[in-house]
Amino acid sequence: MPSPISEQPAGPGQNQGHPTESWSSSLGFVLAAAGSAVGLGNLWGFAYRASQGGGLAFVVLYVAIVLLVCLPVLIAEMVLGRSTGHAPLLAPITAGGRRWAPLGWLFMAAAVGILSYYAVLMGWTGRTLLHALLVGLPADMEASKAFFASISSGGSALLGHVLSMALTGIVVAAGVRAGIERLSRWGIPLLFVLLLVLLIWAAGLPGAMEGYHTFLLKWDASKLHDATTIRNAFTQAFFSIGAGIGAILAYAAYLDRRSAIPTEAAAVVTMDTAVGLMAGCVTFPLVASFALGDVVSSSTVGTLFIALPTGMASLGGAGRVVAVAFFGLAYIAAITSSVSLLEVPVASLIDRLGWRRPRAVWLGVAVITVLGLPAALDTGVLERMDAVFGGVLLIVGGLLLALLLGWGSPGRLRQDLQASGTPPALVGSLLWLLRWVSPCAISIGLVISLVDLARSWAGG
Ligand code: PHE
Repeated sequence: MPSPISEQPAGPGQNQGHPTESWSSSLGFVLAAAGSAVGLGNLWGFAYRASQGGGLAFVVLYVAIVLLVCLPVLIAEMVLGRSTGHAPLLAPITAGGRRWAPLGWLFMAAAVGILSYYAVLMGWTGRTLLHALLVGLPADMEASKAFFASISSGGSALLGHVLSMALTGIVVAAGVRAGIERLSRWGIPLLFVLLLVLLIWAAGLPGAMEGYHTFLLKWDASKLHDATTIRNAFTQAFFSIGAGIGAILAYAAYLDRRSAIPTEAAAVVTMDTAVGLMAGCVTFPLVASFALGDVVSSSTVGTLFIALPTGMASLGGAGRVVAVAFFGLAYIAAITSSVSLLEVPVASLIDRLGWRRPRAVWLGVAVITVLGLPAALDTGVLERMDAVFGGVLLIVGGLLLALLLGWGSPGRLRQDLQASGTPPALVGSLLWLLRWVSPCAISIGLVISLVDLARSWAGG
């Protein structure tokens, strides 16, 4: 079979890959991309890492990394997708030649690796939602721990994982517009409404001020150069925005050539950061009101699945309604993200082998479901997979993207953005950030993260 890759120089009408599908509008793309970004990472990772990493110092570092590093990388990733018209596996080769092939494989490995444990977390979320809806909440902390142990191991965890992968497959198999875009069009607005209602409700809790204090108002400047805080902020920023993994690249390949990528990227980043902050302003008052701080800071997965149901249970019937709203919005956030992760291998199989979408989807679902089995059966494996795929690989992907679009093929970024109406001065600043700031900042963040990770693994 002839290779579908054409290594052509970039030009204004660069859609060499010509995918057959497309978004119905720029808004459809922005909602789908926001759906990819807003996920369990915002609801669970942000709050947990902020509480561990010194409140406001973490938030300040996080916002700086998002604006100076993730936003330019996200724009570069979108340009790579749109300008080549290829899926994540082939787009790097089209832009930079054969020596960039490993980047395509890195995208595939990171997306497949993340989805295989992300679906397990989705399974726990779905199980907690169903339990709150049909049975009720665990009565106290001990009951919460027992409930969490029961959903995060054995047959229950396997079932949640398999069902979440199947649901993700059904959406992706329906196609870009009829599946992914339709889900995000109702899911994202609903998610914001639910979150806003919960935010107002949480502001009335007795521990609201104390909660905001631990999350946002506590200032400790020494945390700004603390290795764990820096690792947490980097990992959280890349994971939450979802940059560096090919998911947004896959979505951008279906994008109209005239749409304004920098504005769209800024909208995605703003929504994502807003959801992280809003979710923290719901969970921290709850945690403070019921003195659950120890559970939150002593366990990575404990926050959402043990502390929150315990706090909500103390509120009786109202707490049950809140639990359904919270875990319902978490499941929506999760599935709009999982579909973007599955789209990476699916679009690549369609693009590289000329397969039809359903065939690519169900093969992808089968392989990823099997790869996720160890994480479904052992939370220790899940946490390690998160550190490797969701932490290190994602950041390496971001670094390589900055190098490819900043140094390897800078003409592509300039031409694509200028042809779609971006002012030259903005394009110049973006290129400067991509060439100088992003690679240096990401390299430093990566080294600090690797050293800190090795230290935490060695320490148990
Ligand atoms: N951003 C998603 C979250 O916060 C996860 C994700 C990572 C999605 C990478 C796509 C790509 O949960």
